[in-house]
Amino acid sequence: MLKIVLSVIILAVIIAGGAGLYHLFKVNAKNKAEMANFDNEITLDADLGKVLVVYYSLTGHTKDIAEQIANKTNGDLYEIQTVETYSSPSVYMKSKKELSSKNYPELKKDNLPDVTQYDTIFIGGPVWWYTMAPALYSYLQITDFGNARVAPFSTQGSNFGKFFEDFAQMAKNAQILPSENFNNIDEKYKEQVSNKINAWLNKLSLKNL
Ligand SMILES: Cc1cc2nc3c(=O)[nH]c(=O)nc-3n(C[C@H](O)[C@H](O)[C@H](O)COP(=O)(O)O)c2cc1C
Repeated sequence: MLKIVLSVIILAVIIAGGAGLYHLFKVNAKNKAEMANFDNEITLDADLGKVLVVYYSLTGHTKDIAEQIANKTNGDLYEIQTVETYSSPSVYMKSKKELSSKNYPELKKDNLPDVTQYDTIFIGGPVWWYTMAPALYSYLQITDFGNARVAPFSTQGSNFGKFFEDFAQMAKNAQILPSENFNNIDEKYKEQVSNKINAWLNKLSLKNL
């Protein structure tokens, strides 16, 4: 009996491991194909007016993209911070509960930017459970964009799910611009990611209105 149980467990581990490896392989291939579109230099040629980049980031991926956008646009940066920080691995269960109960985390509210002072506002965050991380829900709950131009962006492992639909539902009085999403990706694609940001920013230019 013990032998059978052990065999079943070993088989399950092998299947799960194989599925995980296959998933990784597929994501890598997809990233590689996408990045090939950005091999050639794309020059930034966008007039976005006065820019604000608002972001939430737990592990630094969104922070990196947000900082690049702010550098490229000479924009102001604002980091959304929760009063209680998440720790790993409890972040998975804690955030799942917050999302299903719609009981989003309390935010630190010092120096909240006045969004009405900006021509283009970028809002970015990680995808958690196929939607926005709860801190983004908290931020959108307390923000009225007063008809400002708002460009959302996400970072994720590989699947942004309903991030942008949920963003559009939550963002009050936002004139929502085309969004962009960024998979967590190898450092070797740094130039391509920079070109991808440039291509996106060019699309959002006030000149295109
Ligand atoms: C609780 C949790 C849930 C996540 N859910 C998803 C998901 O649904 N889809 C996905 O592609 N990545 C998911 N991820 C991965 C993150 O979206 C990804 O690593 C993101 O870039 C992290 O951003 P940050 O470093 O700015 O915090 C999840 C990560 C965490 C911690």
